[in-house]
Amino acid sequence: MTTENLAVVGAQWGDEGKGKVVDLLAPNFSIVARFQGGPNAGHTVVFDGDSHALHHIPSGIFHEGVKSVVGPGALVDPIKILEEIRGLAAQGVPVKDRLRLSDRIHVIMPYHRTLDGAFEARLKDAAIGTTKRGIGPAYSAKMQRRGIRLGDLEHSGDVREILERVLACGLREELELLGEEVFDPEDMARLTAEWWEQLAPYCCNTTALLHEAIAEKKPILFEGAQGSLLDVDHGSFPFVTSSSTVAGGIPAGLGIPPKAVGTVVGVVKAYLTRVGAGPFPTEDHGAIGDRLRDVGHEFGTTTGRPRRCGFFDAVAARYAVRLNGLDALAITKFDVLGGLDKVKIAVSYDVDGERLDYPPSRLASYERLVPVFEEHEGWESSCREFRRMEDLPKAARAYIDRVCELSECSVGLLGVGPDRRETIVPRGSVLEGFGCPATGQ
Ligand code: IMP
Repeated sequence: MTTENLAVVGAQWGDEGKGKVVDLLAPNFSIVARFQGGPNAGHTVVFDGDSHALHHIPSGIFHEGVKSVVGPGALVDPIKILEEIRGLAAQGVPVKDRLRLSDRIHVIMPYHRTLDGAFEARLKDAAIGTTKRGIGPAYSAKMQRRGIRLGDLEHSGDVREILERVLACGLREELELLGEEVFDPEDMARLTAEWWEQLAPYCCNTTALLHEAIAEKKPILFEGAQGSLLDVDHGSFPFVTSSSTVAGGIPAGLGIPPKAVGTVVGVVKAYLTRVGAGPFPTEDHGAIGDRLRDVGHEFGTTTGRPRRCGFFDAVAARYAVRLNGLDALAITKFDVLGGLDKVKIAVSYDVDGERLDYPPSRLASYERLVPVFEEHEGWESSCREFRRMEDLPKAARAYIDRVCELSECSVGLLGVGPDRRETIVPRGSVLEGFGCPATGQ
């Protein structure tokens, strides 16, 4: 077991393969903690030939002796998390022993999901392409101080009062205007009491639990959801999620000091995908995009939507390295690039003849943005059988070196297939200090 803390965050538009990386590292930690997001996340963990999809629950849940914590900065949808808990329990995972939910987490209420869907429908062509899980409305309610927290559910009388106030403060009119049914606060409070009965065993003061772990030097793994380019402040606004997905969100979302975060690893795919609408400079609408989608099985874990695909964007990656202070990159799905004649990397953006080294903040700039690509030789092998960087084809190694150089970050891990074992940890990787020895030695 290691003694230091480690964060694993998404460094693209989500779906980078964080689940696999966290699952691989989790046995070396005593806690895996989620700090933001809700059931919009979809983390896939593959072992023993089976694929396990998680939405709310940290990817450490499959490991004995590891507590899975969801902190105050996240969201919880009681209906969805209870489904997830039941699914895991049916597979024999002792969820009750391992899962802890903060009493301060804001609850996604059924009307948040209704509002998410209704807003998206009204936006028509300008829709964000959300997961329709109620994320935006639930975070909005929290910021407006009209939210309900998990710990509040213990007292259904309090919940009824909050609901009555929320309806009186404009929610009634909003639902009516959108043509949606207005709920009865009494009935809704009764429903929340049923949720509480089932969720009470998981609910506690996770802030105190984490403070205790920090004091006792028990190692914590922080698990990010979504990705840096979907961050509400730093992403491609408004085509973003509603939380702070970058490493800066960890201390705020969990109630721990910034100094406790420790080493930060950013997960990137060897290419790039995006689900939902919004700017995507390197998107490929042709044969390459189709091939990456087919070979990489690029369909959403949460919504099943086909993902948009394109080549690696080093401008975006370097931005993520700087936003998060990344100590290393975990490059996933490298196997998907095998067999391409040529591979490309975007090295900068051109807008009306001006060279940009940072993603622009103005949406209109993206319409005129042309990525400047660098072309590299491809390689034949999927590389799935390799466990050492030295054994990879020369062109594959050259590609990884160039990705690291342009991103201004070293490689800490290379995923060459979906299974836990299909991973290369190079000698000298920062992950060696976290119980992940170099592979193939
Ligand atoms: P929301 O988080 O459901 O509000 O969706 C806002 C944007 O974030 C949409 O483009 C979603 O497709 C995207 N998004 C949210 N969660 C994920 C995720 O886990 N992976 C990839 N994209 C996501």
